[in-house]
Amino acid sequence: MTAPRIRPRDRDAIVQSLRAGVVPRIGQQHIQVGRANEVGALIQDLDRLADGGATSRFVIGEYGSGKTFFLQLIRSIALEKRLVTVHADLAPDRRLHATGGQARSLYAELMRNTATRAKPEGGALGAVVERFVTQALTTARERAVSPETIIREHLAELSELVGGYDFAEVIAAYWRGHDTGNEQLKVDAVRWLRGEFATRTDARAALGVRTIIDDAGFYDHLKLLSRFVLLAGYSGLLVCLDEMVNLYKLTSSQARSANYEQILRIVNDSLQGSAAHLGFLFGGTPEFLMDTRRGLYSYEALQSRLAENTFAAGGLVDFSGPVLRLTNLTQEDFYVLLTKLRHVFATGEQSAYLLPDEALTAFMTHCSERIGDTYFRTPRNTIKEFLNLLSVLEHNPLADWRSLLGTVQIAEDTDLEAEALGADDELADFRL
Ligand SMILES: Nc1ncnc2c1ncn2[C@@H]1O[C@H](COP(=O)(O)OP(=O)(O)O)[C@@H](O)[C@H]1O
Ligand SMILES: [Mg+2]
Repeated sequence: MTAPRIRPRDRDAIVQSLRAGVVPRIGQQHIQVGRANEVGALIQDLDRLADGGATSRFVIGEYGSGKTFFLQLIRSIALEKRLVTVHADLAPDRRLHATGGQARSLYAELMRNTATRAKPEGGALGAVVERFVTQALTTARERAVSPETIIREHLAELSELVGGYDFAEVIAAYWRGHDTGNEQLKVDAVRWLRGEFATRTDARAALGVRTIIDDAGFYDHLKLLSRFVLLAGYSGLLVCLDEMVNLYKLTSSQARSANYEQILRIVNDSLQGSAAHLGFLFGGTPEFLMDTRRGLYSYEALQSRLAENTFAAGGLVDFSGPVLRLTNLTQEDFYVLLTKLRHVFATGEQSAYLLPDEALTAFMTHCSERIGDTYFRTPRNTIKEFLNLLSVLEHNPLADWRSLLGTVQIAEDTDLEAEALGADDELADFRL
């Protein structure tokens, strides 16, 4: 097998992200190891999505096990399959359901991170809308009718959906802007779609519509968007929501329930096939799923839908259910990962490798001595230090890796935030 070539742009994105302790947004395939079955299952989901299906999956793993990496990897594959993707981390001020603007804020964050194959790093919503217009122009030419006819047909389709009337009006405004060379109108239309209008008055003045995308419209607008991207020539919409544990951390049980109810709507729609070309990936920790007091399992309807196949135990697995457990990386996976990192660092040039194979095993031994023999299970810090080591070698060609290795400090990966969730939080439930 010949090793793949690496584009300098991918190389830099990967190295910079990992050294900063974050998951890269592009190029994940160059460093992906293990989890062939999990990836295979999700590729099937994506194909189903493109075929008109709806899917939702809960990617569950411990802190540091690779949830974010997995979500970003699947997102990249989705882009290759001509889906549009949006992604965001949940946070105290970014939720699926709220009344104080937090759901709109999650929506706006998703829209900022709209990506397509041509713009994998985000900021693609404007380009998607523009593509809707050019697509309509092409169709009009093919069918020898006026562009207005096609646009009107498409807008009629959108207006049928919940919240679709104003959505269609906004697209019509964009089209007018396109047709008459009014750039401001186009900018305002995209701003509206991005959930960036804060008041109805402003939206009305700019676009003549009476509504804005607000907390209550969160899910309906994602459904609208999934229909819209189809009209723009893409095959569907994948929504990735990470750090779902933030819902588990909500102190108000009412707020938690309202958010879990929103998740139930999404899960029901995908199980019953009442959404189309729309997929959801949720990333969360085991307590977010299983805690019967505050997790998804505290919401009975979700517990029954998400209960795992009881036959899939004792080493047997089932990748067809809505819950996908990420098993930890193995020691062999970790070794392969080091070889891939070395390869990426050298921009795919074997002759530029900075370390021999024996240094990789020595590095692993070093990690094991420093932080214990399960060091490969949560590899964030070890990856970071490995890249730091490569960087020192790159800038100091005369340095010897053996003497450097002894100086490499490695801290264990720990979830400081979870530890901060202290005992007085137990009482917080009563403090609605
Ligand atoms: N399958 C994988 N292949 C290569 N690297 C991985 C894989 N899974 C995780 N990683 C790396 O492990 C580290 C931790 O993963 P991350 O996705 O941040 O964990 P989590 O989101 O579960 O806390 C990151 O540096 C990530 O790049
Ligand atoms: Mg993560």
